[in-house]
Amino acid sequence: MTAHPLTTLPAWQALAAHAAALREVHLRDLFATDPDRFARFSFTLGPLTADYSKQRITAETLGLLMELAHARHVEAGRTAMFAGTPINTTENRAALHVALRNRAERALNVNGTDVMPEVRAVRARMAEFAGLIREGKWLGATGKSIRHIVNIGIGGSHLGPMFVADALKDYQRADLSLAFVSNPDRAQIDEVLATLDPEATLFIVASKTFTTAETTFNAQVARAWITAKMGESAVAHHFAAISTNLKAAAAFGIAENAVFPMWDWVGGRYSVWSAIGLAIVIACGPEVFDQFLAGGEAMDRHFETAPLEQNLPVILAMIGVWHTDFLDARALAILPYDHRLKLLPAHLQQLDMESNGKCVMLDGTPITGSGPIIFGTGGSDGQHSFFQLLHQGPKPIPCDFIASLKGGDETSRDLLLGNMFAQSEALMKGRTAADLASTPPELQAHRSFSGNRSSTTLLLEELTPYTLGKLIALYEHKVFVQGTVWGVNSFDQWGVELGKELAKSLEPAVRGNTDALQDRDSSTAGLVAAYLRAKALHKASPGSKGA
Ligand code: F6P
Repeated sequence: MTAHPLTTLPAWQALAAHAAALREVHLRDLFATDPDRFARFSFTLGPLTADYSKQRITAETLGLLMELAHARHVEAGRTAMFAGTPINTTENRAALHVALRNRAERALNVNGTDVMPEVRAVRARMAEFAGLIREGKWLGATGKSIRHIVNIGIGGSHLGPMFVADALKDYQRADLSLAFVSNPDRAQIDEVLATLDPEATLFIVASKTFTTAETTFNAQVARAWITAKMGESAVAHHFAAISTNLKAAAAFGIAENAVFPMWDWVGGRYSVWSAIGLAIVIACGPEVFDQFLAGGEAMDRHFETAPLEQNLPVILAMIGVWHTDFLDARALAILPYDHRLKLLPAHLQQLDMESNGKCVMLDGTPITGSGPIIFGTGGSDGQHSFFQLLHQGPKPIPCDFIASLKGGDETSRDLLLGNMFAQSEALMKGRTAADLASTPPELQAHRSFSGNRSSTTLLLEELTPYTLGKLIALYEHKVFVQGTVWGVNSFDQWGVELGKELAKSLEPAVRGNTDALQDRDSSTAGLVAAYLRAKALHKASPGSKGA
């Protein structure tokens, strides 16, 4: 069997040998022998501080990881991304989301054309449209001002805007309600519609393709709800859209001045910076959105210009590679200790796992490991559910703790931050036999903690549109660097397509055409048959709730 091209690199082999040696060293000892660890392994970038001193690394580890980053041509990858090179090779597309937050007078090209004039024009149109709604000048079909915004989308057309709008709730207009619908289970949209006045509601259909089944279903439900009350001509008053598929948006009946284009060089999970962020602009205002873009732009400048050794996204990315490939830690917990960041784990799940959940390199060569499993929740809630596994589970799981230092009630912040600092300390230190001298011997094993569990802590001076933009862009570039090291295409998502295709082909069967089940496996056929039986029974006696 030929060795994998990555593992034969001298830097890789040096890291493997180093990992074998470091496996024996406890983080407690690293702190004991190096009292300056915090200063050495933390990084402040304006209002954002990252502490990675509780990671199982030494200066040698970081040095070797940087050698690997150089050997994997991270600098060239970065240059290619900013140059608009079609780095999404399987779809022959650029991945130029950085253009969306480029507020400078700088040209950014795709296929030799500067995309910035169009990006600026769409930004200006978003601001104008949002202004009309905010000022009560965009009227519904019966002449009422819009007071409710419903974003209909899924994946990147949902998670990004929902997370950012939620995180910036303090900046939202109190007289505009904002809801997000993604699930094709009618239970979700019906619950939202029940609270709204149709005459004062605007739906934003956010879909890069305008073909996504869940989104088109929900958009049709919303359309029927509007037209049932106000007729067909109301669609032009009560819908806006963001899409690359302008034809489909027009065919839906959306007014031309309410359709906002996006481009194939923006991946769905990187699209919150585009017109997909329209709901944020309406709810929080164009100035707030601009500050959000400014935060992303500041991180872009840092990522683009800082040497790899002093580049925060690169450092965090390489620490992630260290875990995945050398310490066999293939998950990452995202733990915000700030209620407003509670949707960050969901956003990062898509960003990271849809980008780097890949099993082949760009040339089709299999790769043994790429992106980690991302999971998480608000840290306080997590402490009382899955943290047990983080502390005493047999396989260490690295953690990202995230909090802001200012804002909100001080007493609650004391409680939050005190807990967060304590958690990373406990994970790092553990509890040794010596600490348990007074514990009954039969309980000692249960009450001991190995510690030596890695975490990074990210501190925002304050949660603002700017720091939020910086934080999201930090993770985006981290994921990109990791994809570059692993040699995967971080910008396609073929794995998602198979599910979509099979669901389409099963449609006739779930609607009752059992002929369509002929070539299916017995499990799939059995499940569909169970569903059809239940449907038939329900039709026969609709009131029955089952045994
Ligand atoms: O789940 C696959 C995916 O293509 C995501 O990448 C994307 O964010 C989501 O579907 C929604 O796609 P669209 O914006 O085209 O409706």
